[in-house]
Amino acid sequence: MRHVISPTDLTLSELDELLNLSEDIIKNPKKYSEACHRKKLATLFYEPSTRTRLSFESAMLNLGGSVLGFSSADSSSAVKGESIADTIRVISSYADICAIRHPKEGAPYVASQHSSIPIINAGDGGHNHPTQTFTDLLTIKNLKGRFENLTVGFCGDLKFGRTVHSLIGALSRYAGVKFVLISPDELKIPSYIKEEVIKARNIPYKEVRSLEESIPELDILYMTRVQRERFFNEEDYIRLKDTYILNSKKMDLAKEDMLVLHPLPRVNEISVEVDNDPRAKYFKQAEFGVYVRMALIMLLLRESEGRSIC
Ligand code: CP
Repeated sequence: MRHVISPTDLTLSELDELLNLSEDIIKNPKKYSEACHRKKLATLFYEPSTRTRLSFESAMLNLGGSVLGFSSADSSSAVKGESIADTIRVISSYADICAIRHPKEGAPYVASQHSSIPIINAGDGGHNHPTQTFTDLLTIKNLKGRFENLTVGFCGDLKFGRTVHSLIGALSRYAGVKFVLISPDELKIPSYIKEEVIKARNIPYKEVRSLEESIPELDILYMTRVQRERFFNEEDYIRLKDTYILNSKKMDLAKEDMLVLHPLPRVNEISVEVDNDPRAKYFKQAEFGVYVRMALIMLLLRESEGRSIC
């Protein structure tokens, strides 16, 4: 059974297939309107979500399938103490494919070990968020036309931001990529990502504090929210939450074709005045999330039926 727990669970050729299929769905949505007829997607969300859960559900409905699930642990038998292993054994007989978001790192992996249907990690704690990464890659492919030779700045909460961890892993597979890691000392990228991904693949990178000084060299600026829910105390969150605020003045320092991406939700880190800048692509990025999830559901169901993913 094929699962997607980390973005690099797909080979580069499978990723190409996923992104090409996503772009074909954008061009010919009607062609796929019955592709998952009679198939059911379960969305098990133990942590809040707007985009991921609803774009998964929209994706399955666009494919002619159905959806079932829950949007908080409180409305599931997790509150009675049921393990994720038992839950997924049961859900395997109710649905054909399952997306799981969980506050604990590794929970979707544990589920995958006990599942007879494909499991998609829809975000696990501060660890990984592969379908956000596929969304980010589709956005970059569609709007930049390439992954190679890009200087990508990640700004904000690089410690807890699972979308950052996942996207660094995915982009590290392309030639000529450089990373500029912009954060306060307390929210630097975890050392395991620096050692096992960035340094292991000889990716040029620097860790800096200043967004103003870094922005002129970037092809992509990936802004992130400070992840309040993962802080141990509120004081630290309040001290760090507004470290970076992207505004029009800072955008004036950027390249004319720099893309501003953000996985959303946004709090204060991008001023609303930036929304009308043609380089601000975060709402387009959220839209792309539906298409890439449609493609992923189709490919995983195809593989679970014994047909090749590519
Ligand atoms: N980007 C993202 O994961 O958003 P949600 O938390 O709203 O799903």
